[in-house]
Amino acid sequence: MTLPSLKWWQSGIIYQIYPRSFQDSGGDGVGDLKGVTGRLDYLASLGITAIWFSPVFTSPMKDFGYDVADYKNIDPLFGTLEDFGELVEQAHARGLKVMLDFVPNHSSDEHPWFVEARSSRDNPKRDWYMWRDPSTTGGVPNNWKSFFGGDAWTFDQQTGQYYLHQFVSGQPELNWANPEVRHEMADTLRFWMQRGVDGFRVDVFWLLAKDPEFRDEPRNPDWRPGQPEHNSLTHIYTQDLPVTHDYIREMRAALDEFDDRMMVGEIYLPIDKLLTYAGTPEAPECHLPFNFHLILTPWNAADVRRLVDEYDAAVTKSGSWPNWVLGNHDQHRFATRVGRAQYRVAQTLLLTLRGTPTVYYGDEIGMEDGHIPENRVVDPAALGQPEVAASAGRDPERTPMQWDTSPHAGFTSARAEPWLPVAENFTAVNVAAQEQDPRSDLNYFRALTRLRGGSAALTGGSYRSLETATGTPTLQEGTSLTGGGYQNVQAGSGVFGYVREHDAEKVLVLLNFGTEDAPLSLPELEGATLLLSSHGEADSSVLRGNEAQLWQLS
Ligand code: GLC
Repeated sequence: MTLPSLKWWQSGIIYQIYPRSFQDSGGDGVGDLKGVTGRLDYLASLGITAIWFSPVFTSPMKDFGYDVADYKNIDPLFGTLEDFGELVEQAHARGLKVMLDFVPNHSSDEHPWFVEARSSRDNPKRDWYMWRDPSTTGGVPNNWKSFFGGDAWTFDQQTGQYYLHQFVSGQPELNWANPEVRHEMADTLRFWMQRGVDGFRVDVFWLLAKDPEFRDEPRNPDWRPGQPEHNSLTHIYTQDLPVTHDYIREMRAALDEFDDRMMVGEIYLPIDKLLTYAGTPEAPECHLPFNFHLILTPWNAADVRRLVDEYDAAVTKSGSWPNWVLGNHDQHRFATRVGRAQYRVAQTLLLTLRGTPTVYYGDEIGMEDGHIPENRVVDPAALGQPEVAASAGRDPERTPMQWDTSPHAGFTSARAEPWLPVAENFTAVNVAAQEQDPRSDLNYFRALTRLRGGSAALTGGSYRSLETATGTPTLQEGTSLTGGGYQNVQAGSGVFGYVREHDAEKVLVLLNFGTEDAPLSLPELEGATLLLSSHGEADSSVLRGNEAQLWQLS
């Protein structure tokens, strides 16, 4: 029973599709929209609420679609506007919402706006982008760096100025201080909402504004050689500038012209700053400022608990809505990061915390990072900074979806290799095999989404973590589960437990981050109903190593 007062983006689950890698219908080795349409029944079977597509717009693909050459069209590689319309209709018919990836910070250098802008200094589009004269010594205008390595500036011979790009040079930065740019972007949102789009994930939201004086950024004292060069600066002039909030409020106003639409913003910032991007009830901004902290926090019970407590309290105080993410197209697969043994613990955490979870395609079957031979690396983040490619390269988490054991894992009928190699484990880890196995990761995922969807406590209830103490990881006898008196002795072994509660419904989640069994001794578990264990059967006397348990408390 979900709470009727919640919006779909609060009670629901978002599922991210990286369209190049989900399903190819055309046999060219790259995924497309028709491929996704053909897989909608599978998507609906997962118990998710919305699908978000990484960019499918016209693009020369220098950053695989995050370099947009026409914001109001679909790239032929993915299909047509008609294919998109069909997909939206078919998704809606199955009760699935559709979200697009909106990339407002930069366009492609092949976008007609930029082609015009670079044609002469007095072109009316010139000010749509960010141009600077060379420095007095003749080099780049300042010390700003690209996320993908090297300077954030490229010299334009014809007009004798540099243009700014914080990613590849094919991604010139739009000038958000120019009202015409903002007007055009709001119009783009309307264009897609009129075509039935329910929401947007917004790319690099916290980078939209730049220092109008283009001052040098100070050195980051914590930076060490071997880390990406971009981190060598403290980004006080390119990130999180106050005026960004004005821009976001304008975008929000365009969304609010339509019913029940939403946006989730890509924002990598500490929790206090992150939450300012939700705005206030009087001046709302992002419905969900993406919370990436589970990805960034060390994987042990104490650190994860500290994070969840801090974030939950901060969200409550700010009056906004929480959300959680474990993976996306820029981060190594979580099954690889936390390790196979911890995979279900992590999945359980994501789907039982208070807040909207976002799931990355393939994580429901436990896909791991693929091995990318050197001659198959295509990601500009890896190619631009070979010295840190192993950590910065994003190809490993973008490998084709593993559907079955046929050649290329059922992703494409192409004879040639798909755009990225299929991960080697596909014969063992694939949808078809897991459909047959009631104990598979896929069916565990479905069990979690079913429980979540059917539980007011899990979708909208409060969150309260169990107290930590040292010693054996047992729940102290005689303590009460109600009224804040919940005492849990955990620590050493790394057990994290919390209660989700709504009215009379109480769900206890126990996660063992360690490999050691943790004996449980909790009177309230007598008479409680086991909802799910990552290990299949379970009893109330022990939480086994790497086990996740969900209990309905009476
Ligand atoms: C975001 C995207 C990433 C892209 C970058 C530039 O971080 O998630 O994939 O490369 O923006 O658009």
